[in-house]
Amino acid sequence: MQKTFYVTTPIYYVNDVPHIGHAYTTLAADVIARYKRLMGYEVFFLTGSDEHGQKVEKAATASGETPLELADRVVKRFQALWEKLGISSTDFIRTTQERHKAGVARIFTTILEKGDIYLGEYEDWYCTPCETFWTETQLTDDKCPDCNRPVDKLKEESYFFRMSKYQEQLLAHIEANPDFIQPKSKRNEIIAFVKEGLRDLSVSRTTFRWGIPVPGNEAHVIYVWFDALTNYITALGYPDEGGNYGTFWPVDVHLIGKDILRFHAVYWPTFLMAAGLPLPRKVFAHGWWTVEGQKMSKSLQNVVEPNMLIDKYGVDAIRYFLLREVPFGLDGDFSHAALVHRINSDLANDLGNLLNRSTAMVAKYFGGVVPAPGEETALDRVYREKTVAMVGQVGELMEELAFSRALQAIWEVIGAGNKYIDETAPWTLAKDPEQRERLATVMHYLLESQRLVYFVLTPFLPKTTAKALAYLSWPDAPSAAGLVWGKLVAGTAIARAEALFPRIENSDS
Ligand code: MSP
Repeated sequence: MQKTFYVTTPIYYVNDVPHIGHAYTTLAADVIARYKRLMGYEVFFLTGSDEHGQKVEKAATASGETPLELADRVVKRFQALWEKLGISSTDFIRTTQERHKAGVARIFTTILEKGDIYLGEYEDWYCTPCETFWTETQLTDDKCPDCNRPVDKLKEESYFFRMSKYQEQLLAHIEANPDFIQPKSKRNEIIAFVKEGLRDLSVSRTTFRWGIPVPGNEAHVIYVWFDALTNYITALGYPDEGGNYGTFWPVDVHLIGKDILRFHAVYWPTFLMAAGLPLPRKVFAHGWWTVEGQKMSKSLQNVVEPNMLIDKYGVDAIRYFLLREVPFGLDGDFSHAALVHRINSDLANDLGNLLNRSTAMVAKYFGGVVPAPGEETALDRVYREKTVAMVGQVGELMEELAFSRALQAIWEVIGAGNKYIDETAPWTLAKDPEQRERLATVMHYLLESQRLVYFVLTPFLPKTTAKALAYLSWPDAPSAAGLVWGKLVAGTAIARAEALFPRIENSDS
């Protein structure tokens, strides 16, 4: 049976248009999905949109649309961006779809019938932008502790989820599964939070209409986070436990931003426990991007629009920058200067030049035909072994979602390639007919090492790698079987590579 892998992104609110924060999570999920496919897994990669709740209802009123009209319009922008970013998702779930609504009603009913959802009365402080209730003591200067915006006192009849009942079970699960919540610093935060005590959670609202009605009591709509989190199983066909649900649940990793960790690492697992369903294998919270040192916000007008960046620098440059610049899990800063520097130094100079130089030499010295290697010297062996070790290392780092370190490991081999050229000095070898075999070995090794570099780069730079592998006349889509040294076929005619990434001269815009 084929190995399977299931990865998700958060589903994005439709009251905002996509920015690099959204692109970041989705891109990370895409890279891991592509990597797993490369390694032979059957992958389900889910993204989608979160369309219910008061926030969306308010935004729709403000723009003179119905919530669904607003959602239809904004969802197209997300989908168009994902296409432009090369996102290889398997499915896009919208919480307004019937398949989702039916699944949410079902899980709600299951928990209600079990007695873990009950009807009560609620009075607390509510932050509408965050769709979160806070107790008096949780407020910071009478404002929302997360976003620092004003909160409203709300009193309403509400259904409650008996979250308190699952406190110990959740703690035990977190402790028994050290990889469940990552990175570690975030795991510790969640442990501390759970240890403070879990309160029962309000899971319905009566103050607005835009949501999924509580089955059997339509005066209530289901709390937007209960609704949204359930997307991860409704997209798999839940409550039908066969099909994709049977194949892919429990999920291998939920990728999210650190701001929504509590929902994924506390609420969601306890909902699942109550419903008697298996828990996610891993929840990974990445950091936040600032822009030129400042928090990204509409009021500061510094929201970085990914479409504009892709048009200006190309999709792979943006994919590379976002995953290389900041270790996954930490906060980072986006600046144009840093982006241009990465493009010029890593992509144009290191990566592009190496392919350019090597294919030009093969054209010049061997008429564009891959020569068979001769005897291996110590220098060649070091280069080969470094390349082969890198492939294994990338595999381990991808398991840890350490994208930046994986790219670093790949770039070390690219650096070693450029150094190998300088040390072997092919232009000198070419002058001496006695050195023909030596020259052939050097050319062969250069191309074979780069073939492996482009194989492991496929998930990160899908367009560039397709181009590069076409220059090397690689006939098929890269696969795990080709991830070993020695697959390059002598006698293959290859093309001389054009610059993969043109240098950007004007770096101040
Ligand atoms: N709808 C909820 C998620 C429900 S999942 C069941 C939501 N949506 S969101 O559109 O507001 O945010 C989605 C993701 O974008 C979050 O993972 C969040 O961390 C991420 N980002 C939003 N701004 C960001 C940055 N400035 N930097 C990095 N990621 C950020 O929350």
